[in-house]
Amino acid sequence: MRDELAYRLPKAELHVHAEACLEPELLLQIAERNGHDLPYASIDEVRRAYEWSDLGAFLDLYYRHIEVLRTETDFRQLVESYMSHAAEQGVRHVEMFFDPQAHTRRGVPLATVVDGLAAGLDSGAREHGISGALIACFIRELGVESAQETLAELAELPAFERIVGIGLDSIEEGFPPPLFAPLYAQARALGLLGVIHAGEAGPGENVGLALSVLGVERIDHGVRCGDDAASIAALRERGTALTVCPLSNVRIGMYETLADHPVAQLLRDGLEVTINSDGPAYFGGYIADNWVAVQRQFDLDVDDLVTLARRSIAVSFATAERKAQLL
Ligand code: HPA
Ligand code: ZN
Repeated sequence: MRDELAYRLPKAELHVHAEACLEPELLLQIAERNGHDLPYASIDEVRRAYEWSDLGAFLDLYYRHIEVLRTETDFRQLVESYMSHAAEQGVRHVEMFFDPQAHTRRGVPLATVVDGLAAGLDSGAREHGISGALIACFIRELGVESAQETLAELAELPAFERIVGIGLDSIEEGFPPPLFAPLYAQARALGLLGVIHAGEAGPGENVGLALSVLGVERIDHGVRCGDDAASIAALRERGTALTVCPLSNVRIGMYETLADHPVAQLLRDGLEVTINSDGPAYFGGYIADNWVAVQRQFDLDVDDLVTLARRSIAVSFATAERKAQLL
């Protein structure tokens, strides 16, 4: 009964990367269409490749698979594939990350990427009633200047209006949030909101730094915030939401099992936790699959699930009108 509720409750997904929605079947289909050679003879071989020891190993495979994506159709199909799964998982609103630099550095024009993703959002709205927007994530190890140049190019696109915010992802260690202060200032000036992957593979103090220096609206992951009292205090004081992705953290090897994951503690501590998929094609589940896994592991009750659902909508960047429809 609680499993069914986890699927059925209307919810928003706030931490999912478009490029990590590339299911093995779609990967092979797009590779074949684009004449892109992959080192796999079958779906099973692709699935066997989805095993890593850490974030770096995951990112290597993720960026290699991204290379199959070349046309507007590819990007549209990626989002459409997500939308059809998400509809079955009770998703009514999605804020989808994409990595513009992962495409421009291979020579794929930004307009191709954003127009394709926007067409996928349109299909989701039309076919499943799911509202959606994009969040442009920048690859931290490419540095602040590359991110700023890419953001300026995004702002020139007709489809720029589909982008509601910016984020930072990829390698966290060695790239503390303050390095990116000029990027977040530029984003604000363009009318965008800010999120950031922080306190995932990097130290918990990155959460507090992201709040105090960058002024972000949400923290992606943030699961290591418990290591840093100042970060916890800042999260509480501001009521900032965390977009936690438990199955991703376990698959990437941050925690040996779900039982070791701090999500239940963070919920008990009264932080504004949301539970999301991160990359459903890579981490063993879509959003409600994550909810069910956490609910079974930590014995969440009906009220906990209802709180998660309502909070996901409340802390989303949806318009007040859309929130009123969903809450
Ligand atoms: N963390 C860091 N980089 C990423 C992630 C993530 O969860 N997903 C895609 N790139
Ligand atoms: Zn992520």
